Amino acid sequence: MSRFFERCSGIPIRSDNVSFAELIGDVPGAAPDAAPHREPCGAPDAAPDPAPAPAPGDPTRRTVLIAAPALSLGAAAALLGLPGCTAPSGAAGAVPGAAPGAAPGPSHPGGALLGFKPIPISADDAVRVPDGYRADVLVAWGDPIGDARGMPAFRWDASNSAAEQELQSGTHHDGMSYFPLPLGSSDSAHGLLVTNHEYPDHALMFPDGTANWSLEKVRKSQAALGCSVQEIRLEAGRWQLVRPSRFARRIHANTPMRVGGPAAGHSLMRTAASPSGRESYGTFANCANGFTPWGTYLTCEENFNFYFRTPADPNPMEVRYELGGKTPSPSLWGDADPRFDMGRSRNEPNHFGWVVEFDPYDPASVPVKRTALGRFSHEGACTMLCGDGRIAVYSGDDRAFEYIYKFVSARPMDRSDRAANRDLLDAGTLYVARFNADGSGDWLELTHGRSGLTRENGFDSQGAVAMFARAAADRVGATKMDRPEWIARHPVTGDLYCTLTNNAGRGQAGTEGATPVNPRAPNRFGHIVRWTEAGGDCASATFRWEVFVLAGDPNHADPRVRGNLAGDLFASPDALMIDARGVIWVQTDMSPNVLLKDDHAVYGNNQMLAADPATREARRFLTGPRGCEITGACMTPDGRTLFVNIQHPGEAGAAGVDPKNPRQLSNWPDFRPDGRPRSATVAVRRADGGVVGT
Ligand code: FEO
Ligand code: CA
Ligand code: CA
Repeated sequence: MSRFFERCSGIPIRSDNVSFAELIGDVPGAAPDAAPHREPCGAPDAAPDPAPAPAPGDPTRRTVLIAAPALSLGAAAALLGLPGCTAPSGAAGAVPGAAPGAAPGPSHPGGALLGFKPIPISADDAVRVPDGYRADVLVAWGDPIGDARGMPAFRWDASNSAAEQELQSGTHHDGMSYFPLPLGSSDSAHGLLVTNHEYPDHALMFPDGTANWSLEKVRKSQAALGCSVQEIRLEAGRWQLVRPSRFARRIHANTPMRVGGPAAGHSLMRTAASPSGRESYGTFANCANGFTPWGTYLTCEENFNFYFRTPADPNPMEVRYELGGKTPSPSLWGDADPRFDMGRSRNEPNHFGWVVEFDPYDPASVPVKRTALGRFSHEGACTMLCGDGRIAVYSGDDRAFEYIYKFVSARPMDRSDRAANRDLLDAGTLYVARFNADGSGDWLELTHGRSGLTRENGFDSQGAVAMFARAAADRVGATKMDRPEWIARHPVTGDLYCTLTNNAGRGQAGTEGATPVNPRAPNRFGHIVRWTEAGGDCASATFRWEVFVLAGDPNHADPRVRGNLAGDLFASPDALMIDARGVIWVQTDMSPNVLLKDDHAVYGNNQMLAADPATREARRFLTGPRGCEITGACMTPDGRTLFVNIQHPGEAGAAGVDPKNPRQLSNWPDFRPDGRPRSATVAVRRADGGVVGT
C-alpha cells in the first residue's frame, strides 16, 4: 500500500499434479507428511472451527507420489511445477480426497518447522535477517536488466529517460516467481526471476518530481511499471543477473497485448487504440502474481483506476470501480496521454483490472488479458489443479468491503502438450465467496443469465459479467471482506490462506459492522483467514473456513484490537507465500502514514515472518528499511534461496518526499551521498547454504 495508491501461488499434489522437483524427490527439507492444524483457535472472537471434510482413501503423500503420474520425467518437467517458486510455495499440495487435518501426527515434532532465531523489530534503514543468514541486493529499480539492445546505467539523480527506463528494472517490486532454466528443469542455481512493478513514486523518479510534467515523464512512469524478466545465476554463493540475456524483457504500460476470454471484442472494450476490443496495450499497477503448471506467469492489475483522469458524470459501473465521483486521478498520466483521460477514451479503463498471462521462456510471446477471471483490483492469482485436471485460480479484490473470487477452467490441463494449455484460462466459471456464520462457505456462480445477471440488470453477456464482476458479486450476495490481499495454498493440507490486511472503515460511518469472518470493527491491524475446499478439491462449490489469526498487540490498551498472535508481533499482513515444508511466510504492509507512530510503533518497520500452520507461532525473519513495504517472495526449488522484494523504501507519509531531498527518510540500498532509495529484490541465503527457515 502506498501513499499514492491503497492498494499465491500453489499447485496441489494430486496424483496428477506434482512438481518436477518432487517427482524426483528433490525438495530438501520438505515435510514428510501433512501438517495437521485443527487445534482450537483460542480466539474468543474467532469463527467456529470447521468440521473436517470426508477423507476418502486418505492416502499419504508419498503413496500418491509413487502411485501417480504415468508421466515421463521429461513430460512432467515440460508441464508441471515449472517455476521454482511453484515447488516451495505450493506446487505440492493436497493428496486427492484427503481431509485437511486428517494426516497422522505432526510433520514437525518438537516444533522444528521454524529453525531460526527470530530477530527484533527494527526502525533502521537496513534489511535485517537472523544470525547465520545474509541478504544480498540482486537488482534494484533502474538497474539494466540485460536486454541486448541496451544496458543503460542508473543515474543517481534519477534523470534516466523513458527509453532508458524500458531497458531497466521497473520500480516498486511486488509479486515474483522463479522459473528454472532450462524449461522443465528444477535448477536452483540458474533461472528466470519475473517481478511485478506496482506503482510510481514521481517524487523519487524524477530530479524535479512532478514539476514540468510532460509526455516524456508519463512515458517513463509507464515504463517503470509492469514486469521484469531477468535471467539470474548463482555463482560462488551469490546471485547475479546474466547480462546480456536473450530472456531479458520489460513488459510495461504500453506493451502490445491481446484480450482473451469473454470480454474480448465487447463493445465496451473498443477504443481508439483497440477498435476491435481484442487488442490491448500494457499492464500496470501489478501487485501480486501467480503462475501456471505449464510454466507461464500471471501478473495482476490492482489499483488501475488511480491512473485515469476520471469523468464528472460517471455511470454506475464506473462509480463501482471508483472511476469518477469521489476518487481523484493522482497519477497524472491522463494529463499528457489521452489514453488515460476518460474524457477522450472512455472505455480505456475496461482494459485494466485483469490478470495477464505471458510466457517468460519466450521473449516474443504476446501477453494476454485473461478476462474470464473477472475484473477488479486483482491482488494475486493462486492457481491449483483440481481433481479432474481443471485449473482453479483464486484472487482477492483488495479494496475495503470487496470480495474473494475463484475461477475454474472449463477444460482440464493437457499434460502432454504445453501449447494446448495456452488459452486454457479463457473459458470457465467465475465464482465469488460467501462465508457463512456457521463456518461453512459457498462459491456463488457468476454466470450470465443466472442469479439476476441478465441484460435487464446491466449484464448483456458473460463479457459484461466479467468486466463488472464487482457488481455481479454484489447481486449474488457475496461476503464483503477487509481488503483481501494475497491467497496462498498449503502444499500438503491443501488449505487456502488469505490475508485481510485491515479495514479501518468497518463499522464506521454507516458501513457494515463486524461479521463472523471479519470479526473486528474497525479492523485496524488485519487478520488471516483459511479455508478448506469440500473434498479437498478446488472445483468444489462449498468449503469450510476459520480465522487463522487476528493480528495486533496483546498489550494494547484497547482489548478489542489485541488480536491473538502467538510469537512475534505484526500488523497488516499482506503478502503470503507457503513453502514446500509448509511454512507460511507473511509480509506486512503498514502504511507509511502510520509506520512507527502511536500504537503502530511496537511493530517497527515492515517485516517478514515465518508462521507455523499448526501452532500458529510467528517468528520475525526479516525487517525492512525505513518507509518500505515487504511484498513478494519466492524460493528456488531446493529451498536454499529466498527472494524477497523490498518495495518503496523512503516513502514518506501523506506529505510525500521532497524531490530535492530524496534521502530524507531512506537511502537504502546504495547509501550513496548522491543517491536515492530504490525498491529492490534481495536474495536471502543461509551462510552454510542450508534450507531457508530450518
Ligand atoms: Fe498492492 Fe493490495 O497491495
Ligand atoms: Ca498492500
Ligand atoms: Ca499487496
